Amino acid sequence: MLDIRGLHVTFLSTGKEAVRGVDLSMAHGQRLGLVGESGSGKTVTAMALSGLIERWNVNMTGQVLFEGRDLLACSRGQLRAVQGREIGVVFQEPMTSLNPLMKVGRQVEETLKIHTDLPPAERKHLALEAMEQVGLPDVAETYEKYPHQLSGGQRQRAVIASAMVIHPKLLICDEPTTALDVTVQAQILTLLRSMSEQFGVAILLISHDLSVVRRLCEDVAVMYKGQIVERGPTQRIFTAPQDDYTKRLIAAIPTRKRHE
Ligand SMILES: Nc1ncnc2c1ncn2[C@@H]1O[C@H](COP(=O)(O)OP(=O)(O)O)[C@@H](O)[C@H]1O
Ligand SMILES: [Mg+2]
Repeated sequence: MLDIRGLHVTFLSTGKEAVRGVDLSMAHGQRLGLVGESGSGKTVTAMALSGLIERWNVNMTGQVLFEGRDLLACSRGQLRAVQGREIGVVFQEPMTSLNPLMKVGRQVEETLKIHTDLPPAERKHLALEAMEQVGLPDVAETYEKYPHQLSGGQRQRAVIASAMVIHPKLLICDEPTTALDVTVQAQILTLLRSMSEQFGVAILLISHDLSVVRRLCEDVAVMYKGQIVERGPTQRIFTAPQDDYTKRLIAAIPTRKRHE
């Protein structure tokens, strides 16, 4: 489904090469974790893939093949057909992905408005259904609310609903639980797992925290200074890490969490 080959991303404003030759592949329905310390290039990799990167400010080389099409070589129109429709994104802070002035239900519907020509009644029906699927309470009522009237966890559920309403093939989640408290974190990870099992959506879970990734992902790729230093099944990465940096990441997890 996804095959990133030799991706380099350099910011023109600073000359910083944030991504230095990343190869990363994902199969349909796979849950892959991308971990690494802050500044290692995880978000920039995700943005190159989701099309959210400011193209005028970067030089990108390599290939980002999604279902055989190179997203780096696509026109804007071709990209629109993929990004948001086949690839959905969920970021750390739901408040920044949600428009504070727009009702929650309308925002879930917005994805359908942009990417389909479904009539309004059908869009609303699908939006309410997606809101139920992500576990929002009393969806008819929540539909009419504004983001600030929801809790942090509910807002993240709404963001997930707005990405999932169109049934993308890939959901990129960049630190989706970092801003949430521990119990809500666990609920959101459970929700993501159920989305992947129920709908077969592949999930790229980006986190600085290996213990978060371990809860959801069967595979882990470890990123360090703009490169993937190691990739493998989660269990193997934990029990027999090969790379020195991976070993340090694991050693940095508090002992209590390491044995969870
Ligand atoms: N818009 C930008 N302009 C210039 N440099 C950036 C920009 N965004 C990110 N970077 C740099 O790219 C590197 C990787 O950042 P990022 O992908 O956000 O790291 P991570 O998500 O792993 O914490 C960092 O050194 C960061 O400063
Ligand atoms: Mg980041």
